[in-house]
Amino acid sequence: MLVTMKVFYHNVLTQIQTTGSIAPSSRFLARAITQCVEKKPEPVSILEVGPGTGPFTRVLAQKLGEGDHLDLCELNGGFVNYLRQRLQRDPVLYAHREQISIYHQSIIEFGGENQYDYIVSGLPFNNFPPYLVQEILERYRILLKPGGLLSFFEYAMIRQIKGPFIWGNERLRIRSIDHIFKHYLRPYEIDRIFVTLNLPPAIVHVCRYK
Ligand SMILES: C[S@@+](CC[C@H](N)C(=O)[O-])C[C@H]1O[C@@H](n2cnc3c(N)ncnc32)[C@H](O)[C@@H]1O
Repeated sequence: MLVTMKVFYHNVLTQIQTTGSIAPSSRFLARAITQCVEKKPEPVSILEVGPGTGPFTRVLAQKLGEGDHLDLCELNGGFVNYLRQRLQRDPVLYAHREQISIYHQSIIEFGGENQYDYIVSGLPFNNFPPYLVQEILERYRILLKPGGLLSFFEYAMIRQIKGPFIWGNERLRIRSIDHIFKHYLRPYEIDRIFVTLNLPPAIVHVCRYK
């Protein structure tokens, strides 16, 4: 736990824009964001984007059945090294090490199409420029199989809280992200879970792209 915090805060301080959080996600958020991932008669393939120190990864690993696979896509080399070590040392991850692959790259460069049943995204969309949010959401759509599920989170009311205190380009950026969420994602949203026991409280969105 102490090592996880050390790795997390070292990387938050050096990569604040892409890490975008003040603490690793709680087990309550981990449970909520992975809730939609269910076993199927056929093998299931899962992509986790932005695993960080791995709070969601551990819960996802516990859900892996025979033939299922979990791919992790992480931009930050510090987190990638930590996850590789965790795969050897954490008994839950170690038990599924043959079913888990780690990719050190940005989701933007992550190739493939129609290959995942589930995408669990830990990316801090509210920190990104709107064009990047749009590009990543489109990448997710392409990567998911038809009917596949995307589950992601954002900190509760973050855009509404920031709104009155920001001006100029930052205000425009936040408004554009709000617009993308409302107009691009909302039609696909099938579930929303409010998680109070997280720092800060968070909302999980589950979307089914058609
Ligand atoms: C908010 S942290 C979440 C970490 C972890 N899932 C959690 O909930 O504690 C965001 C993570 O996304 C990663 N990330 C940011 N941009 C990325 C990108 N374009 N592709 C892949 N990972 C990215 C960051 O390095 C960081 O690990």
